Amino acid sequence: MREGLGLCVTALLTGVLASACGSRPARADNEPSEQDFSMIERGRYLTTVADCAACHTNPDSHDLFAGGRPIETPFGKVLAANITPDLETGIGSWTDAQFDAAVRMGRGPDGERLYPAMPFPYYTRMTPQDVRAIRAYLNTVPPVNNPVRSNQLPFPFNIRTGMAVWDTMYFEPGTFRPDPQKSAEWNRGAYLVQGPGHCGACHTPKTMLGGDLKQQPLQGYTIQGWFAPNITNDLQLGLGRWSVEDVVTYLKTGHNRLAGASGPMSEEIVDSSSRMSDPDLHAIAVYLKDLSGTSGTGKPLAAGNLQMVAGAAIYRDLCSACHAPDGSGVDYLIPNLALASSVSSREPTSLLRVVLHGTQTVATPREPTAPAMPAFGWQLTDAQVAAVTTYVRNSWGHAAPAVSAGDVHKLRPLDSEGGG
Ligand code: HEC
Ligand code: HEC
Ligand code: HEC
Repeated sequence: MREGLGLCVTALLTGVLASACGSRPARADNEPSEQDFSMIERGRYLTTVADCAACHTNPDSHDLFAGGRPIETPFGKVLAANITPDLETGIGSWTDAQFDAAVRMGRGPDGERLYPAMPFPYYTRMTPQDVRAIRAYLNTVPPVNNPVRSNQLPFPFNIRTGMAVWDTMYFEPGTFRPDPQKSAEWNRGAYLVQGPGHCGACHTPKTMLGGDLKQQPLQGYTIQGWFAPNITNDLQLGLGRWSVEDVVTYLKTGHNRLAGASGPMSEEIVDSSSRMSDPDLHAIAVYLKDLSGTSGTGKPLAAGNLQMVAGAAIYRDLCSACHAPDGSGVDYLIPNLALASSVSSREPTSLLRVVLHGTQTVATPREPTAPAMPAFGWQLTDAQVAAVTTYVRNSWGHAAPAVSAGDVHKLRPLDSEGGG
């Protein structure tokens, strides 16, 4: 007994071997317990679900979580911070409370307000335990010395106190509250979508200042020149024609019998949703399929409309070989245009980009071969692109506003940047 106690005292003094005393040390350097391991593993998974790396890893340097990637906001650019455990330039010296305040309350280490380019308005729905697990995982990544000055905004937006107004208008802090009327699976899906998944950051319509229009959650928004469609269960504009399995397959592989992901969503799928567990993907799908959106009630344009006649001819010549005359495509290879909700979104941006620039679905580890959609921008005039997309948007059960040559022209300059 005596000897054991002596060892304990020495251990406490030196901070080494503390685990030999039976009590858990505050932090056993390099010797995490089994409990720590499972917390770190859970944190690693949540960091993937929350896609922290998407912004905090600069694609030019590849240093994981070392920051420096510019994030667009309605006010200008904000650089994502260094969140490696580097003591000097990262968050190594932060307390867990400071980390929690940053992620769930949008506050910097000295209480200053962070810009909502950091999606804290969604992460606030996470539980404190989940945020602590993320911190535990981030503590294990290699520290990188990389000073980042996040605030690159012009006056007056560079004054962080101005964000107090934004927070009052748009920020509703608070952990997710489960709905006892719904199943455990639905609530898990709601938690993932509203919290760590921050799907609304792209899919929820925003005010001029980038605040969520809370009455229209997940009903579609244009971000970085791409339209993130309505992902409620709305029949015309949303996922109404998708099954739960269709949603799971899309989030897991980047495509399904109805659609293929491109643009920012393909990044999201490769880095985040393709790595989520099957039960979590199923929970997300169950939740999304239970959300009602506003239903589109429009009638399709008449078949005799001049744009429709021209569009039908172009479709027959250039598109029907792959997508079939009735738009039905080929299962898992060529999207079914009759069922793709992206085709009849109120905003034609994504549709126009696909037709002008072509695209390739993402290749995820689970499904390595990805078919491509050729670019037609070089071959068709603005009016022709407008006609064929108007035709597609008003055929096979779709009804959506016509596209004008001007709409097409606005997306043309991106050709020179090799966009798409
Ligand atoms: C959509 C992009 C984006 C995502 C996703 C994102 N962040 Fe951020 N984060 C930022 C930006 C931009 C800043 C800088 C904000 C500022 O300075 O006002 C930031 C700031 C922070 C800060 C404050 C750092 C400091 O030095 O002040 C922490 C901590 C942080 N993020 C952690 C995380 C974690 C953890 C995740 C995942 C759960 C995450 N972020 C996901 C963009 C993002
Ligand atoms: C960085 C922005 C961004 C984030 C975050 C994001 N999405 Fe998307 N999402 C998009 C864009 C853009 C599209 C349209 C892609 C296209 O046109 O191919 C899209 C498409 C989709 C589609 C297909 C809709 C259709 O009708 O074709 C689904 C389903 C979807 N997202 C679900 C989600 C879920 C669930 C989350 C959160 C876990 C999420 N997205 C997070 C940008 C985003
Ligand atoms: C060589 C075969 C081929 C031809 C020809 C073709 N497509 Fe595609 N198309 C594809 C493939 C493959 C995809 C899926 C790739 C992706 O989404 O990244 C696709 C995707 C699309 C999408 C996106 C569907 C979604 O789920 O969001 C639209 C819209 C589209 N095509 C319209 C057209 C139109 C209009 C034409 C004629 C001007 C055309 N395509 C010609 C093969 C083709």
